Amino acid sequence: MSSTPVLLLLGAGSNLGSSIATTFSKAGYRVALVARSHEPGLQKNGYFHIRADLGDAGCMPGIFEEVTKNMGIPTVVVYNAVQYKLDDEKDPFATLGPETVSRFHSAMAVNGTTPVIAMHHAIEAFRKLPSDTAKGRSFIFTGNILNRAATPNRLCFGCAKTVCAYGIKMASVMYASEGMRFYYADERTSEGLPVMRDIDGTVAGKVYLDLAEAPEQRPWNYTYLKDGKYQDFEDGREYITVREASTAEFRKGGRD
Ligand SMILES: NC(=O)c1ccc[n+]([C@@H]2O[C@H](COP(=O)([O-])OP(=O)(O)OC[C@H]3O[C@@H](n4cnc5c(N)ncnc54)[C@H](OP(=O)(O)O)[C@@H]3O)[C@@H](O)[C@H]2O)c1
Repeated sequence: MSSTPVLLLLGAGSNLGSSIATTFSKAGYRVALVARSHEPGLQKNGYFHIRADLGDAGCMPGIFEEVTKNMGIPTVVVYNAVQYKLDDEKDPFATLGPETVSRFHSAMAVNGTTPVIAMHHAIEAFRKLPSDTAKGRSFIFTGNILNRAATPNRLCFGCAKTVCAYGIKMASVMYASEGMRFYYADERTSEGLPVMRDIDGTVAGKVYLDLAEAPEQRPWNYTYLKDGKYQDFEDGREYITVREASTAEFRKGGRD
């Protein structure tokens, strides 16, 4: 296939998904979108649609195969799918009882484990890109504040987002030497609070395109404001560090 850049957007709906796709398409990308409700195949607007349920990561090899065959090897992968139910804010762990524990498993899959498995496939795909591919080799996960702040009625959702944040941080260090970049993107208010329903798709499109094409890895936990600018709400403190697995460090009687 030609060197036209390719966006694979996993979990594309009417809000963020649609705006991100439009921005990348206008920037000259071929666009492939994945959701459960999409009519599959090449669309009139040039997008390639794949119907898949990201609750089962077993669909991932087929998705990458189809995109590569029809649009080219993805140069940028965005994971944007979201699926969860609220937990009881007074008793969040009640969800984990036998009658409702399936909610935990599905939230973990769609928002946590499937995106981490998608990262594996993205890494494999990026390695197959021609060496002169100028832009891309970027994976962006749409996050929120839950990897940094626990909200009582979002136990399942928060566990999942945190799982993915861990994977993103690790990959941003481990694959930097191969020119790959990984981001947990999170729009916040100027006070550092979650934007909730006010999340802005147009801004996300611009920020993601900018991140996708940036030559260097920027902060992996990419908290940004409505003006699209990065804002560090942790005063530079890192809460996850990546260290060599063989380095055992014990403090106060336990491995930290
Ligand atoms: N920073 C913040 O404060 C903040 C605020 C709001 C949202 N967000 C984040 O923004 C992201 C996007 O949210 P949005 O509402 O704008 O998304 P959207 O692009 O409008 O829709 C996401 C799409 O994901 C698809 N999806 C859900 N479960 C799926 C599954 N099992 N398999 C395949 N596709 C699935 C759905 O399509 P189908 O139903 O067709 O499958 C849905 O339309 C989420 O990750 C959310 O957590 C962050």
